[in-house]
Amino acid sequence: MTEYPHIPVMLEESIQGLGVIPGGRYVDCTLGAGGHSEAILEHSYPGGQLLSIDADPKAIALAAERLKCFGSSVLLVNDNFANLKDICQRYEYMPVHGILFDLGLSSMQLDREESGFSFQTEAPLDMRFSPGQELSAADIVNTYDLAGLSDLIWKYGEEPFSRRIARAILEKRPFKTTTELASVIEKAVGGRHGRIHPATRTFQALRIAVNEELSHLESALAQAQSLLGHGGRLVVISYHSLEDRIVKQYFQKEAKGCICPDDIPQCVCNHKPSLRLINRRVITPSDEEISRNPRSRSAKMRVAERIIQPGEGRFFHSRAKGLVNHVSETGSVRYGQAKHKGVVQRGGS
Ligand SMILES: C[S@@+](CC[C@H](N)C(=O)[O-])C[C@H]1O[C@@H](n2cnc3c(N)ncnc32)[C@H](O)[C@@H]1O
Repeated sequence: MTEYPHIPVMLEESIQGLGVIPGGRYVDCTLGAGGHSEAILEHSYPGGQLLSIDADPKAIALAAERLKCFGSSVLLVNDNFANLKDICQRYEYMPVHGILFDLGLSSMQLDREESGFSFQTEAPLDMRFSPGQELSAADIVNTYDLAGLSDLIWKYGEEPFSRRIARAILEKRPFKTTTELASVIEKAVGGRHGRIHPATRTFQALRIAVNEELSHLESALAQAQSLLGHGGRLVVISYHSLEDRIVKQYFQKEAKGCICPDDIPQCVCNHKPSLRLINRRVITPSDEEISRNPRSRSAKMRVAERIIQPGEGRFFHSRAKGLVNHVSETGSVRYGQAKHKGVVQRGGS
C-alpha cells in the first residue's frame, strides 16, 4: 500500500459528518495529500462527484497522482477557497451534498524546508501556501512598525509577550531565515518556559497573516452555505482556537431563528435558521488516533446541515435517490450534472 506524507485527520468522522452517499456531489476545499478526497470518492461510488481545491500547486500535483484512478469523477482546482463560489459557478457545480474544510497546513508543507513554516529547520521566511501570493513572512517581520507587528502577534498568535517580541524583532532585523527569527524570539522571552517552543505562537501568527487565513475562512463559510442543497452538510476541522471560534460563531448565528433584541415583545426580524447544528459539542480525535497521529491532537470538528426554508431557495436534494434536483422557477425539475470532465486544472483564476 502506498504511504502518503499526510495522515488524514478524523477520516471516518468526516465521512459520517458529510453523510456521504453513492451518487452524491461533494467539495473538498483543502485537498492536501488527497486523503479525505479519496475517502469521499470511495464512499460516493458509484456516480459520485468531487471537486477538490488547494492553493498549493504541489498538493494538486501529488493528489492528482493519487486520485487518477477515479477518472472523471474528480476535478482538482488550484485556487484559494476564498473563491469557492466562483469556482463552483465556473463548473456549474451546484448545489452540492457536502463541503469539507480541513484547515491549516499539511505535513508535506510543514516538512518542506523551503516553505519556511517550521522553526526547527533553517529556511527562508516564506510561509505562503501559494507561490502566487505577494506577501511573505519576511515582508512582515522586516517592514511592519512596532504597533503593527505587536498587534499581529497578539491577535493571531494570542502571544502574551507580543510587544516584547515585536521590539526584539525591530532591533535585530532584517531577518532572512526561520531559525534566526526563532532564536531572537527565544532570547526576547528569556528562554524556554513550558512545553512549547517560545516561537510557536509568533510563527502561527505570521502564517495566519501571510495567508489571510481567518478572513478567507469567514468568507468561505458563507459561500459554502450558499452552495449546499437542503440537507447538505458542512464539515469543518480546525486546529487552533481562532479558527474554531469563527466556525462556532458562524454556525450558531446561522442556526438561530429570531435575532430581535431581547426587549422587543414580538419578533419583527423574521429571521429563519439556515443551518442545523449536527453536533452540539465539538468532535475531537480519539486517544487512539492521537497516539497514531500526534499532529491530530489539536483538531476540532464541527458539522452543520443546510436548511432551506420553503419558498426561499430553488435547490433540494434527495438523500434517498442520491441525486441533486434543480427545481426551476416554473417548477420543472432536472437532475444536476456538473459541467466538467475530470480535468486536473493547474493555475487558479
Ligand atoms: C490540513 S491540509 C489538508 C489535508 C487533507 N485533508 C488530506 O487528507 O490530505 C490543508 C490544506 O489546505 C490548503 N489550504 C489552506 N488554506 C487554503 C485556502 N485558503 N485555499 C485553498 N487551500 C488552502 C493547504 O495548502 C493544505 O494543503
